Parts: sequence; structure tokens; C-alpha cells
Amino acid sequence: MYRDPVESLEPLHHRQAAIRTLRVGMIGIGTVGSGTFRVLARNRADIAARAGRSIELVMVAARDLERAASIVGESVALTADAMQVATHPDVDVVVEVAGGTGPARDWVLAAIAHGKHVVTANKALLAVHGAEIFAAAREKGVIVAYEGAVAVSIPIIKALREGLAANRIEWVAGIINGTTNFILSKMRDEGLDFAAALAQAQALGYAEADPSFDIEGIDAAHKLTLLAANAFGMPLRFADAQVEGITALQGVDVACAEQLGHRIKLLGVARRQATGVELRVQPVLVPATHLMAQVNGSMNAVMVKSDAAGLTMYYGAGAGSEQTASAVIADLVDVARLDGVNAAQHVPHLGVHAHATNALAVVPRAAVHTSHYLRVPVHAVNQIQAIAANLAEWKVPVRQVALAAERPGMGPQVLVLTGPVEQGTLDLAVHALRARAEVAGAVTTLRVESLEG
Ligand code: HSE
Repeated sequence: MYRDPVESLEPLHHRQAAIRTLRVGMIGIGTVGSGTFRVLARNRADIAARAGRSIELVMVAARDLERAASIVGESVALTADAMQVATHPDVDVVVEVAGGTGPARDWVLAAIAHGKHVVTANKALLAVHGAEIFAAAREKGVIVAYEGAVAVSIPIIKALREGLAANRIEWVAGIINGTTNFILSKMRDEGLDFAAALAQAQALGYAEADPSFDIEGIDAAHKLTLLAANAFGMPLRFADAQVEGITALQGVDVACAEQLGHRIKLLGVARRQATGVELRVQPVLVPATHLMAQVNGSMNAVMVKSDAAGLTMYYGAGAGSEQTASAVIADLVDVARLDGVNAAQHVPHLGVHAHATNALAVVPRAAVHTSHYLRVPVHAVNQIQAIAANLAEWKVPVRQVALAAERPGMGPQVLVLTGPVEQGTLDLAVHALRARAEVAGAVTTLRVESLEG
């Protein structure tokens, strides 16, 4: 059984309780919501000590009320109407963990309009509608906190906005999707096929409701959009990000990368250039000895290169119920401490610099400057030098050439690692290469990231 919100909230009208307790209304009680409920209950005293007041879940909106009641018991009021939570006078802060970008936008904007703070782990919502949501929140003087939206357990938003506040950030790069990192690790370490690895990630609660967001790189791009806005003070530019997932990645390239001393990871990269910011998600080669290559399973890691602190790196769970709850509750603690404080004292939502808007445009794909890996199918093994010479003719610096280890059913393959070159130049060279008589099929290219200085 569950209780109706109106009657259930009666006890909270005792004035003292209402003043002292931060009253939380939660929309959604799925993976993240149930984890948040559990951790709030389990660590109640510690959380209250850190927040300076108790934090209490008073109302939950859920589609399936019986299921919700089986999770939260009878002490929490339940409703099927999320808007009721967003606008209820007895809710101080709305935790939106339902996901999606349609109704969630309406709930969050309604909560803000009613003067409520918002905590959300919804990266899609913020990447797409963040500009509108943060503007509304600024207007109302309320907080929209979203640590759980990016690399769940890692306090990377706090690190960028507070810990690294002194720095000019040069780049941010990270493994910021747990599902794809889990899939890549399972495929490499256990020889699992893609579909089986994805099914495991779904069963463990790592994947999005629509897992194509994970495997197509969209979820990572949502997070990268938020990281870049915090790092560079640029507006949220999700629509301009270059996004590539892992669905087109072939097992042969995973093996060839290893042969060349590298490992393939789905990386989000935001890098400052003279003309703007590179904003891109794609599978890339990283040196096998690099710390980033050791990040396996559903773990995430983010590296930040900044002028004063230098290179810093942050590591932690990238998906999971209580792992995300950890960040959601940390945001609630911030809200508990800042609620009632002059809004000018709040940490800004993004730190967007109004004057920097044009300078921080997204660099077009053709101008992205990195090293590359090429796999070129050839008719005969002695054609290796001809391939290298042809690339050099097109002004592509060739750093390493090798023949791929033989694989059953596959002809000879020339592997190339290039030095840094603009994507536009590489594209022209690959186009020319494809027309050569020595080349026996499509040329595969992937970026290589050294992740150094
Ligand atoms: N589906 C997401 C991931 C969940 O796998 O990273 C955490 O944002």
C-alpha cells in the first residue's frame, strides 16, 4: 500500500521539522532513485552531520506505485503525477532521476518556477535543454546540481568548478560511458561478442533505457558537453559535437591496436585550440602503458590538463545504482548548505563566460589535429613501403609501419601510425590511397591520443 501525498505530508507541517529538514521530492525510482533512497536511509546520520540538517525523502513520483511502495515503504508519499512532486509546497528540492528530455524538461522547469532547487543525474536533459534550465534557475535564484550526470561516482564537476578554479584548462579527456567501457573490456579480456557484453551491461543496470545512447556515443557526448562548458566557460554545444560510438569498431582493429602497443577506448575529448574547442567522442587508440588504458569494466576516468595544476586524473565507477546515488546525495548536501543563502554566493551552474561565446566555437572535424592509426588491406606483403610513401606524398607524417599479424580469412594488412595531422589532410590522403592499385579494400582509420602534456 502507499499513501496519498496530501495526507502523508501532514506531519511535516509541524513547523520545527519543516524548518530543519531538507524535504526531498523524487521523480523516478528506478536504478538511480532506489539507490538514492537506500543510501539516504543507510547513512542518514553521517549525511545529516555533513549537511548541517537532516535530508528526508518525503515524496516520490513513479509510474508503478506498488513497485515504488515495495522500495520506499510507507513513510514516503507516492504519486503517479510527477508534476505534483515538482510543484508541491512541502518539497524543497526536486530530485529528477526519471531520465528523458521531454516531460523531464517540463518537471524541472516547473520545479524551478515554484522556487525549488533541482538535483538531476539526467545528462541528456542538461546537454539538450541546459541553457534554458540554467537561465530559469538563475532568474529564480535556485540551484540546479548535476554531479551524478557526468561519470557518476567521480566528483568531476566539483573538481572543474571548485578544485581547479584557479586554472586555465587546456583539455579534458575521459572514458565517460561505463557501458561501452564494460563492453570493450569484456570483448577484449573474455572474448565475449558485442551483443552478449551489452546484454550483461543492461542486466547490471549500467545501460541507458535506450542502449543506443551508450553504444552510439551519444551518452558520452552529453557528458562531454557538460564537461566542456564547465572547463572552458563555453555554452552547451551538444549539437556541434562529433560523435562516433563503438558499433562500427571491428575486432581486427582491437587486435591490431594491441600489436602496435595500444588499446582502444571510447574517449570523450574537449581540447582548446587557437580557433575554438574540439568536442568529440570516438573510439581511439591510447598507449597500452597509459593509465587510461588500465581503466576497465564499467569504470570511468577523466584527465584534465590545466596550466597551473598540470595533469590531474580522476577515476571511479562510471555507472551503477548507489554509485550514482553517491553523487546525487552529495548535491543534496550542497543544496542543504546553500538553501537560503544569497544566490550570488552559489557556485555558478556552468561558469559560462558571456564574452567568450564566439572564441569558443566548436572546431570543425576537418580541423581536428591528432595522430592516427590506419589499417590498409593490400594485395601483397611487399607493398608496405609503397603505402608509407604514398601517405608521405600527401603530407601525412608516418611514424610507424608494420604488417598486421596474419588472421584466418584475411589478406595482408598494412598498419600505420601517423604523427599529428589535420583530419582534412588525412581524409585526402586516405581517399588517394583507396584509389591505388596496391590497396585491396576499405581503409580503416582511428584517432590516436597520447594524453600527454
Ligand atoms: N549508461 C550510462 C553509462 C550510465 O553507461 O555510463 C551512467 O551515466
